[in-house]
Amino acid sequence: MARLVVTGGMGFIGSCFVRRRLAAGKDEVVVVDKLTYAGNPNNLKEYKDDRNLTFVQGDVCDRKLMDRVTKSADALVHFAAETHVDRSILEAGDFVRTDVMGTWSVLEASRKNELDRVLIISTDEVYGEAPGRPSTELDPLMPKSPYAASKAGADRLTFSYFTTYGLPVVISRCANNFGPYQHPEKLIPLFVTNALEDTPLPVYGTGTNTRDWVHVEDHCAALDLLLKADRVEGETFNVGASAERSILQIGEAILEALAKPKSLLQRVPDRPGHVVRHAVDWTKLRDRTGWMPKTTFEIGLPETIDWYRANEWWWRPIRAGAFRDYYEVQYHGRRKPSARG
Ligand code: NAD
Ligand code: DAU
Repeated sequence: MARLVVTGGMGFIGSCFVRRRLAAGKDEVVVVDKLTYAGNPNNLKEYKDDRNLTFVQGDVCDRKLMDRVTKSADALVHFAAETHVDRSILEAGDFVRTDVMGTWSVLEASRKNELDRVLIISTDEVYGEAPGRPSTELDPLMPKSPYAASKAGADRLTFSYFTTYGLPVVISRCANNFGPYQHPEKLIPLFVTNALEDTPLPVYGTGTNTRDWVHVEDHCAALDLLLKADRVEGETFNVGASAERSILQIGEAILEALAKPKSLLQRVPDRPGHVVRHAVDWTKLRDRTGWMPKTTFEIGLPETIDWYRANEWWWRPIRAGAFRDYYEVQYHGRRKPSARG
């Protein structure tokens, strides 16, 4: 049995990864999660009594904690982060702290305890705009939001731990994920849950900005492969699905699936620094590991909509809580931030 530490395992992608590993029954998994607004024990509800799962509530920035949990670990997968671009525009401090300093803490602990593999979950946001073609791993990093910049710092700090200390790191940069258990602040779950409540769907700017959409299970399958691949230490891998869609295309598809009127789409002021197009070239991952995405957007989107329709127990409490205050500030108080804040 391998001993695996997973940070951020109560979040959207981290919990998907943990469910897969526990279902396979090959690891002892230690989840370290601070349970911020985005962390949700309901995401691992079905495994709460699994004897191969240990949950430690704590902050990845806590150096002593990270030293302790990695003491007899074989590998670590680092998902924990502040992840929402819009929140980073409202207040960047937690992003710098968790995404940069938290990653430093994880890297230090992994170095001290000589882990065999450290998989750091970066993001395609680090590239900024795709340069007229999908971004490759060799393209410059030009992050456009405080979130993306914090992740770029963490990404390159990780690389430096390979070049400087020989820490066996692997870095993944995935495009936009979708699927079950994604927090309703993000585009697809926000649009689905708003539509289910007959509330307008806020479209930023023209609605023509595009993202590449990867099903969360496909992303986690890629991470499974990167965790065990040979001769990948110090390397970076894009994860994409070549499934680019605009905000408007997604909004229209959701409304159609739920038989709701198009009039629910409502233009709102654009996100400052809004990236027009994110798209990644993922041929390196395919060529080195054989990975291919399995769930197309045409199949995955209706399945995801059905999941939210069938699992109101999961998202209604989130939307009823602190999310309301966030929504008020983010959408009703929407204005362009000034240089003075
Ligand atoms: P999420 O917001 O759903 O979950 C983040 C998790 O990290 C939560 O459980 C939260 O409680 C935990 N966390 C936050 N701060 C912490 C801290 N200081 N200490 C310990 N735990 C803390 O995020 P997600 O969408 O699942 O993203 C996971 C990772 O994947 C992130 O690193 C993100 O940057 C990256 N990523 C996300 C996407 C996407 O589309 N969602 C795409 C590419 C990369
Ligand atoms: O590309 C990977 C990144 O994808 C991850 O690193 C981030 O953690 C993740 O949040 C996601 O970032 P985005 O900013 O692309 O995701 P978001 O769901 O916030 O927005 C997707 C698109 O939809 C983007 O063009 C902005 C737009 N949007 C979003 C919201 C929440 C709207 O038009 N209206 C909205 O209300």
